[in-house]
Amino acid sequence: MKSSTTTGFASAVLLVLLCGSTVAFSLNGNYKTIIDTLAWTGDLSEIYSIIERNQIANTTIHLRSVTVFAPHNEAFLKITKQDSDDEYLPCYHITNVPMKLEQLGKSVFSELDGNPPIWITKKSPEEIYVNQAKVVYNLANYEHNNTFGKPQVLHVIDQVLQPLRMKKNSPQNVYNPNAWEFMENAEYLDLDSYHTNTFLQRVQNLDKKSVFSNQGGHTFFIPVDEVANYPKVKPEKIDVKVIDAHIVPDNVLFLGPTNEEEQFKTLAFTDMLKVFTSLSKAVEGDKTKYYVSSDTVVGDDVHPTGAVVAEIVKANIPVRNGVVHLISRPLMIVDNNVKQFIESYKDREDSVLHRFYEEIMNSGGDFLEKLTAMPNVTLFAPSNAAFNDQSIQPYLLNRTYIRSLLDLHIVNRRLSIDDIVAESIDKRFQVQTEVPRKDLFFNVVTSGKNRTLTLEGGGVNATVVQANLAATNGIIHIIDHVLGIPSSTVDRKLATDPTLNETNYLGQVSSLNDQLGDVQKRFTYFVPRDFAWKRLAIDNPSAYKKLFMPEYSNIARQILERHLIIADKVFTMDDLRKEANNNYNLSVHLPTVRDVSMYIKIKDSVEGYSIEWRNEWIHVHRSDVRCTNGIIHVIDKVLIDESDVEVNGAIATKSITALVLVLAQYLVFYYFN
Ligand SMILES: *[C@@H]1O[C@H](CO)[C@@H](O)[C@H](O)[C@H]1NC(C)=O
Ligand SMILES: *[C@@H]1O[C@H](CO)[C@@H](O)[C@H](O)[C@H]1NC(C)=O
Ligand SMILES: *[C@@H]1O[C@H](CO)[C@@H](O)[C@H](O)[C@H]1NC(C)=O
Ligand SMILES: *[C@@H]1O[C@H](CO)[C@@H](O)[C@H](O)[C@H]1NC(C)=O
Ligand SMILES: *[C@@H]1O[C@H](CO)[C@@H](O)[C@H](O)[C@H]1NC(C)=O
Ligand SMILES: *[C@@H]1O[C@H](CO)[C@@H](O)[C@H](O)[C@H]1NC(C)=O
Ligand SMILES: *[C@@H]1O[C@H](CO)[C@@H](O)[C@H](O)[C@H]1NC(C)=O
Ligand SMILES: *[C@@H]1O[C@H](CO)[C@@H](O)[C@H](O)[C@H]1NC(C)=O
Repeated sequence: MKSSTTTGFASAVLLVLLCGSTVAFSLNGNYKTIIDTLAWTGDLSEIYSIIERNQIANTTIHLRSVTVFAPHNEAFLKITKQDSDDEYLPCYHITNVPMKLEQLGKSVFSELDGNPPIWITKKSPEEIYVNQAKVVYNLANYEHNNTFGKPQVLHVIDQVLQPLRMKKNSPQNVYNPNAWEFMENAEYLDLDSYHTNTFLQRVQNLDKKSVFSNQGGHTFFIPVDEVANYPKVKPEKIDVKVIDAHIVPDNVLFLGPTNEEEQFKTLAFTDMLKVFTSLSKAVEGDKTKYYVSSDTVVGDDVHPTGAVVAEIVKANIPVRNGVVHLISRPLMIVDNNVKQFIESYKDREDSVLHRFYEEIMNSGGDFLEKLTAMPNVTLFAPSNAAFNDQSIQPYLLNRTYIRSLLDLHIVNRRLSIDDIVAESIDKRFQVQTEVPRKDLFFNVVTSGKNRTLTLEGGGVNATVVQANLAATNGIIHIIDHVLGIPSSTVDRKLATDPTLNETNYLGQVSSLNDQLGDVQKRFTYFVPRDFAWKRLAIDNPSAYKKLFMPEYSNIARQILERHLIIADKVFTMDDLRKEANNNYNLSVHLPTVRDVSMYIKIKDSVEGYSIEWRNEWIHVHRSDVRCTNGIIHVIDKVLIDESDVEVNGAIATKSITALVLVLAQYLVFYYFN
């Protein structure tokens, strides 16, 4: 026995070295009683000593049938020790019915005074949670009778269970309260010095006691009176519907087992009004914070649509009829405009929009005034992570530049995610920003249940990470990149833009793309979008078909090279337009890789830029898509015509067989006749 403990220890050490976890023991081949198992398993020494020191728990486990939920030692390392641990923890980890995992129902009664419940969530037969803690499946279902022949069961769990505790020296004891009694007696409870009086008063005034005292298992989000650095919400705004939105009926949602972003119907989900709630977490600095959001998908005159987010300041408090989470502010109430919303991140370092707030201030702050003046605005606000991206740091030093970029993040109308999805159904939805000729382009990607919204602005592809945050004068979507600051090379940009696939494909097949990752050079690339290739396929089907055959990749390459300039600087459309205007025949020379003497004209109208090449005006669909090593102008037509004929024939003969030569001449024939 001694030797097996030693091996156990050795392998534990090995595992620590390998993956930083100390949980590496097994109950296989163990034939001891539960209490002896706890006593003899090194990794369970904390729960053992805490049970053994507590007379009630120690006696219970020696005399009666029990199930023990035993947190391993690593779980104890994660909690801060409290004086009242010895009083509360031992009995809350024990129930007096022996139950294997498959026998566990929705809850069990603990042995703590008043028998408060421990809630069970079964996500699958092997993924089971007790409150927020996960059962370590291969260390569960250990059965043994105690010395009095009473059957007992042991399940190891990965976190210490935390029952509701009384304040130290509380004059009154509250036994196993339901959510209503919890609020009523909050002054006696140990709630990390949070108070819930404001909300309680509203619940009393509006006669909503019953929804908090309903039997069963529910989730209650209870706003606290005040949290440092968070603005306060006017209590009158809390009405009957708002109160209902704080309860998820018939669902006990602890933070561990609940899927992030999964939406649950609240009590305020009726025919007239529909409010969902969901949980999320975010790593902020060295802390992980948890948030709850209400999402009003169908509102009414008083309750606008959109999401409201609150921080969960004290989570996972088990009560008789479910679980309580204390939150930083009431859900569902929209009382800030976009400016105030952004300003609410001012003093909360590491909170998701803190850097955005700082950048706005660095660039003069007038951006916030601009937002306030807009009655219906959509703001795409980059997260902290977006601003912390290493590759954009040099750009952030230029305040003028940042100020101009900010305007790329706002749209002068309200766009919820549903609006964008609806507009995206059979086309690529595009909308104007506050920067002339710089539109945002959207794409909705659905994968299983997940729906991801991406957008492109100023050449940057960003993903919406938090959607539909509501403000009185608009909607805020949080995105993961700063728009307008390039972060990818030309070849990466081509490879990741779904509307440039054909040009990317031809460039890959013909190896033209190989050079486009070179960060020493500066590329200006007129990229025909897929639409342009489709047009060629209609105008000249055989030419199109052959260009996409691998044996003609040389010709494809030559054609692409006509679109590409390699120089020591990039040419924006505005640069080119200015230069053309200076020349007496209004043309500008394009030193492309293919043609030494290529001239184009440039026109600038409300629809954007167009270029004239060989007597045809071609619309520039997206201009000035910046990349780290170049710039892309997306055009609506491929630059191709009859003068390609001789050159193609000539080059084709160089490397390929006579047969292919014949084919190539055929191509030329079809192509231009
Ligand atoms: C726990 O119970 C056992 C058996 O009744 C007893 O021998 C032991 O002394 C008790 N431990 C404490 C600390 O009271
Ligand atoms: C454990 O106790 C139960 C009921 O008291 C009994 O049926 C069972 O045979 C016992 N098991 C062992 C291994 O002694
Ligand atoms: C804002 O948009 C809503 C509809 O989305 C519209 O009813 C309202 O009139 C707009 N307000 C202003 C000031 O444009
Ligand atoms: C800052 O950005 C502005 C606007 O893009 C530009 O005109 C200016 O040259 C930049 N200044 C520096 C020092 O790079
Ligand atoms: C949906 O998103 C979750 C969380 O981001 C991810 O784990 C899961 O694999 C995704 N499912 C699909 C079908 O993409
Ligand atoms: C952004 O990139 C992703 C992945 O490459 C792509 O699926 C999406 O369509 C792009 N979004 C836009 C708006 O171009
Ligand atoms: C990209 O274009 C090539 C050539 O037309 C085609 O074979 C491929 O399926 C396309 N890829 C996507 C993702 O559309
Ligand atoms: C414009 O002038 C240049 C010489 O400056 C000439 O080479 C070019 O062919 C002219 N372009 C047109 C379209 O006339």
